Order: sequence, then C-alpha cells, then structure tokens
Amino acid sequence: MATIRLGDEAPNFTAQTSEGEINFHEWLGDSWGILFSHPADYTPVCTTELGTVSKYTEEFNKRNVKVMALSVDGLESHHGWIKDINETQNTTVNFPIIADEDGKVSELYDMIHPNADSKLTVRSVFVIGNDKKVKLIITYPASTGRNFDELLRVIDSLQLTAYHKVATPANWKHGEDVVISPAISTEDAKGIFTKGVNEIKPYLRMTPQPNLD
Ligand code: BEZ
Repeated sequence: MATIRLGDEAPNFTAQTSEGEINFHEWLGDSWGILFSHPADYTPVCTTELGTVSKYTEEFNKRNVKVMALSVDGLESHHGWIKDINETQNTTVNFPIIADEDGKVSELYDMIHPNADSKLTVRSVFVIGNDKKVKLIITYPASTGRNFDELLRVIDSLQLTAYHKVATPANWKHGEDVVISPAISTEDAKGIFTKGVNEIKPYLRMTPQPNLD
C-alpha cells in the first residue's frame, strides 16, 4: 500500500458493489467523486450517515459529485441493511456501497487503521476532482458520525478554486467573500474579479464569491 496524498491520482479499482461490478474511474467519468468508508453494516452511526448522504443527493448532483460508500461486509449484508436504512431514515439509498470483503479497496486507500481496529475500516473520506486527483482526505473515528454539511462546504471551496482561482478563508460559508490567490497581482485581480477587489494588505485581497448572480 502506497500512501495517498493530496494531488495524487485516485487509485483505480474494480469492485463488487450493491449496484453491480464497478470500475471506479469509468464510473466517475467526468464527475467529481466521494469515496467514503464506514466500519460496518447494521451499526447505528453508520445507518444515520448513509441515510443522510442519500438525502443530500440533490446537493451532490448540483455539484456534479458522485458518491460511493464502502465497508468490509458482503453484498447480502449490504442489501439487507439498505432496506433498514431506507426504513429507519425515511429515504432511498441511491449510491453504490462496495462489498470489500477481501479488503482490496480498503488496503488500496489505507482505510483500516490497525491501532483503532484490526479488521474494520475507519470513517475515511476522499474527495476526488473531475481530473481524478485526490483533493481532500479526512478521517474520523468509528464513534463520530461525519458532518456532511461540512463536506458540501469543502466541495464548494474546492470547486471555487478549480473554476474561479479563489481560495476560501477560515469558517467561510457559501455567499461570503473569498480570498484572491497570491499568484494573481492586485492589478490583474481588478480585471478578473469585476465584482470588486478589497486590498486589506498586498497579500490579503478579498472579492465577492464569483459564481453568484
Ligand atoms: C456505528 O456505526 O454506530 C459504530 C460502528 C462501529 C463502532 C462504533 C459505532
């Protein structure tokens, strides 16, 4: 297993999933992607997480993001558990869950942290750009359910950087001013960011979020 770092190409794989056999890169196509692991099927925190993700479908679609989950449980287990998620979370799971029984994908993405648990995957999240490069890696322990609003916030930030060459400041939220890249001179910035450039310091220039009407 090689360490995966930001900027690396997301390793490709073919895996059995609740929606059939999938080649990861082919499935991603031109979309952005989220690959996220959870420790086990039929567990409470995971049940709430997968229900929440399925309810965010419209938000992921708006951002051109496809979602794939993973645990080391098998397909039969996944199918039974999906019924429980749909029932208890009042939703319809509509993304593939990898049945990584042989641990091939978990190993590839370093999702098992033996000092936390020798067999089960931790709560890993990989955000992959539409260039197949890894843009974000976060890891939570089994006992903490993830904040998927934060994940959407980070995807918005990543896409602002990819499409508009801006960064986002601490605690930034959609609609707030963003940071102009230090690589752009203030003079050039005034031509690019027509909504205005606020030069607080030569290295600290803000502009209204560019992709809003
Ligand atoms: C859960 O999803 O609830 C869970 C899974 C493994 C360990 C602790 C909690």
